[in-house]
Amino acid sequence: MHFSSLLPAFSLFVIGASACPGSQYGFIPPKPTDSRGPCPALNALSNHGYLPRDGQNITIRSVLQASLDVYNIDPAVLVGVAKLGLLTSNEPDTFSLSDLALHEVIEFDASLSREDFAIGDNNKFNETIFETLADANPGVNYYNITSAGKVQEQRLAISERTNPNITNTDKEFGFRSFTSALYLAVLGNVTTGVAPKSIFVQIWFREERLPYAEGWQRPEKILDPTSVSTLTGAVQAASNWVTSGGCPYLRQGPGAAPTLDSQAICKQLDSLTRGK
Ligand code: HEM
Ligand SMILES: *[C@@H]1O[C@H](CO)[C@@H](O)[C@H](O)[C@H]1NC(C)=O
Ligand SMILES: *[C@@H]1O[C@H](CO)[C@@H](O)[C@H](O)[C@H]1NC(C)=O
Ligand SMILES: *[C@@H]1O[C@H](CO)[C@@H](O)[C@H](O)[C@H]1NC(C)=O
Ligand SMILES: *[C@@H]1O[C@H](CO)[C@@H](O)[C@H](O)[C@H]1NC(C)=O
Ligand SMILES: *[C@@H]1O[C@H](CO)[C@@H](O)[C@H](O)[C@H]1NC(C)=O
Repeated sequence: MHFSSLLPAFSLFVIGASACPGSQYGFIPPKPTDSRGPCPALNALSNHGYLPRDGQNITIRSVLQASLDVYNIDPAVLVGVAKLGLLTSNEPDTFSLSDLALHEVIEFDASLSREDFAIGDNNKFNETIFETLADANPGVNYYNITSAGKVQEQRLAISERTNPNITNTDKEFGFRSFTSALYLAVLGNVTTGVAPKSIFVQIWFREERLPYAEGWQRPEKILDPTSVSTLTGAVQAASNWVTSGGCPYLRQGPGAAPTLDSQAICKQLDSLTRGK
């Protein structure tokens, strides 16, 4: 891949051409022993071999490079979340895809395609959960900022109803809206926030496959921090969000102090501030 900086056009050709089944970057579904996680984007990168197919030993550099090569995402957009990924791992400088499911490092409640941690499997794609997004924006064949905001609102309402342990603060709101902006931008258009439904977004979520065969291409314009945060803000504005109370907290690692302790401290602080 060292040629890529010298010959960008050539490397693009290599990436596009080699995505055919059977080639180096062809789609191969994971074996039962492969690690997969709550992030459809990274699972897809492993399913195509842009990240290790076993989903293990992922470094910050490798995940940023693969996201740039395949999704044309500026590393500056992802470096923060990639570093948080290391907190989910027991290794000093790598994580596996399933590590990322560690609740309340990045992984949050009211996701688009996974059950809440307290209720079920927060790691694996779930069609029932995904239905809200799948059925959104009826009558047209694309998702957009309005539908993405509505989906977040509906998914949150379902979690509030079914999950007594829900965590829904600024932190989760920020991450949720960021992931919505990412699917709209990467599978659609970062400027308009419009992304094709069945041929791109649904295939990507359900099969964790890059929809090259359906006509998807790497976004031609790099997704930089400014364009992604503008789109994130637009989704936030369209989602009618309200907190469920409590304060944001960050779990520090797999063996770190129990999540519930920090939540209890948070609740105390929250009640003190609310009293004022
Ligand atoms: C630096 C690398 C990345 C890390 C460490 C990471 C981590 C995660 C984690 C932990 C989740 C689970 C959140 C949850 O739903 O509870 C997630 C979800 C998600 N990620 Fe990533 N991610 C990365 C890169 C990307 C990229 C490049 C994209 C888009 C191309 C992306 C799109 C998404 C989407 C759409 C979801 C939402 C899934 C859902 O709500 O069901 N991520 N990611
Ligand atoms: C890869 O990751 C696994 C699981 O974390 C670990 O046991 C193994 O030692 C790692 N291998 C390398 C070469 O780093
Ligand atoms: C949910 O909250 C209850 C009450 O705080 C606690 O006993 C239980 O362990 C929590 N469950 C999970 C999965 O966090
Ligand atoms: C998917 O999520 C729904 C709603 O939480 C749940 O009833 C169902 O058992 C889950 N399916 C699987 C295969 O885990
Ligand atoms: C999204 O699409 C729906 C259905 O066509 C439309 O009513 C809505 O105005 C669109 N939102 C934006 C921001 O264009
Ligand atoms: C995104 O939409 C804008 C505005 O309609 C358009 O100028 C641009 O070419 C589109 N970009 C892509 C990659 O389709």
